[in-house]
Amino acid sequence: MLAIVGGSGLYSPGDDFQLEESLAPETPYGETSAEIGVGRWHGVPLAFLARHGPRHRIPPHRINYRANLWALGQLGVTRIIAVNAVGGIAAELPPRTLALPDQIIDYTSGREHSFEVGEDQPVRHVDFSYPYSEVLRTALVAAARQQQLALVEKGTYGVTNGPRLESAAEIERLRRDGCTMVGMTGMPEAALARELEIDYACLALVVNWAAGVADGVIEMTEIVEHIEHGMRRVKALLGVTAKMVAA
Ligand code: HPA
Repeated sequence: MLAIVGGSGLYSPGDDFQLEESLAPETPYGETSAEIGVGRWHGVPLAFLARHGPRHRIPPHRINYRANLWALGQLGVTRIIAVNAVGGIAAELPPRTLALPDQIIDYTSGREHSFEVGEDQPVRHVDFSYPYSEVLRTALVAAARQQQLALVEKGTYGVTNGPRLESAAEIERLRRDGCTMVGMTGMPEAALARELEIDYACLALVVNWAAGVADGVIEMTEIVEHIEHGMRRVKALLGVTAKMVAA
């Protein structure tokens, strides 16, 4: 089954999601961010989870990523499309752009970021050379072309700890590292999916220029406006992609 993990601004797949049950599964890691909605969307089975909780109450560094991913895995989810709001660093990523990162750099700290606990189990070091699923990325690109929606097909997502936004110098460093976008929720989600062998892709919506890229400071009102504008396109793209990758 496909799952969508919604970030800021995406709290349901859409009005046309036919919810069959809302599940609050127990996990060895505690509670998920919200109940997981399971139902049908565009004729295909879908699970949906709001990463920040029902009313956006959970900040990025306090999300229980392990519980969320574990619970989705237990439900039989084999593919996840994650939706993440990001700041644009590269010139080709102004606010309202949809982007599909193909690489990631993790700058987070202090998050529970692995299911590997050692103890009586030999430690596995999963391969993470290419963090995102090519199958899902290809489907998203095809869906965007079909709908004539502009989509930047590559990029490197730098994941910061938040919840504060970055300083201009931090963004300059990320740019030197090769990051084209910055957000707070891409990790450890992607790595935990890999540990569970769940295919995972990230659909990023740019909601502001990252710190220091444009003149002035970053205003929350600006972010909220771009999120509202962008989510209609996100939902349209996800709907077509869901049909393509339903397994
Ligand atoms: N930085 C980090 N995370 C973000 C940003 C940003 O500028 N915009 C949206 N999420």
